[in-house]
This record gives sequence, C-alpha cells and structure tokens, in this order.
Amino acid sequence: MKFTYFGHSCFLVESAGKKFLFDPFISGNPLAKDVIDIEKIEADYILISHGHGDHVADLVPIAMRTNAIVIAAYEIITWLQPQGIKNVRPMNFGSANFEFGKLHFVPAWHSSCLPDGTYGGNPGGFIVKTSEGSFYYSGDTCLMMDMQLIPHYATIDFAIMPVGGNFTMDVTDALKAADFIKCNTVIGVHFDTFGLITIDHAQAHDLFIHAGKELILPKIGDTISLGK
Ligand code: NI
Ligand code: MN
Repeated sequence: MKFTYFGHSCFLVESAGKKFLFDPFISGNPLAKDVIDIEKIEADYILISHGHGDHVADLVPIAMRTNAIVIAAYEIITWLQPQGIKNVRPMNFGSANFEFGKLHFVPAWHSSCLPDGTYGGNPGGFIVKTSEGSFYYSGDTCLMMDMQLIPHYATIDFAIMPVGGNFTMDVTDALKAADFIKCNTVIGVHFDTFGLITIDHAQAHDLFIHAGKELILPKIGDTISLGK
C-alpha cells in the first residue's frame, strides 16, 4: 500500500489497484496550496470523515473532475447531490462490501456541520480492507473507548490519526489510541496547519519510540510505502 500526503487530513492511499482520497482540503491550507496541484489528484473513491470545511473544502471540484465515488454520511451526501455530484455512496455507521473489499464506517467523537451550516450527520472514521491489507483512518476525534472495537473488524497494518490536539487527539492520546487499535505504525495528520495545532515533532517521535511504536509525520507531497 502507498500513502501520499496532501496536508492537514487530506491524503491518498493506493491499495489493491484503487486510489482512496480522504478529506480533500488543499486550496485553503497555507502549507499545501503552493505544493500540491489539485488538478493532478486522481481518485477512484473519495471518503469524507465529517462535514467541517478543513475536510471538504475541495471536495466538489475534485469529485466533479475525477468522477470518483464519494462515500460519506447520508447527510453529507444529501448536501452534495444538488451540487451536481451523482456518483455517491451514502452510509451510516456499519459495514458494506465494495468492489475493492470491505469498508467499515465507524464512530468518531467530534462534531459535523457543513461549511454552509447544514447538519452533517455524525462524524466518523473508516477501516478499509482490501486484498493488500487493512488501514484505519480515525477522522477528527478525541481518544475514545470505541477504538477498542477496531481490532474486532480488522488487523490494522497502519493507522492515520490526528495528533495536533485542541480539536482532536494530541500525540499522547494518539499513542494510547494505537494501543486500543493494536497497531504499531501511526501516520499523524491534523497538525501544524494552524497555530492551535502546532506540535513539537522531536518530542512526538520520542514519545512513540519509547513505547516501541512508530509515528510518521509526513511532509506535504511525500509518498510512503506501507505494509504490502
Ligand atoms: Ni473537524
Ligand atoms: Mn478538522
């Protein structure tokens, strides 16, 4: 599997020949907007964790251009359809079979309204299972006991979780979350974009290393190979 970082909580995972794009937010990200060319992003699926602007700002143009299947909470899909996006898959918490394998849409402890104030349903995270392995993206969330259910669904090869604090888990909580989901490889997201979520990288790495785990803090534009 391959992970490419587009900044904040926007990233692409390539697994079993499919491209999964998550939470497109680039044009409004001062760290990413001059580094990433939105027009060059390809996707077969676009998965949305919740409706906040820092997760959906570039969704409509990318969905329009790529014709990727947009997977999100029912309420977000209902908001999307009148904007001309027809290739959609509404979900609520639960599991579904797809051409690529299995998808679990799981809870996150956060909030979710869309940029125009429309209710976005419940915020969530995803477990994506393909023939190449499984990964978990928690979405924006605090540390929560529900994460202990994640290993019940899949053996997680790597997890993408927020580490910036203030609006989500910080590094300490993400380390505990890694225990809960039984995964030793964490890619940190949702850090450094704004002042309130700036983190000390060296301290963050130390914390994970001392616990025998790996924290990857990707650079915007980086591609990393993981698992198979
Ligand atoms: Ni949010
Ligand atoms: Mn966010």
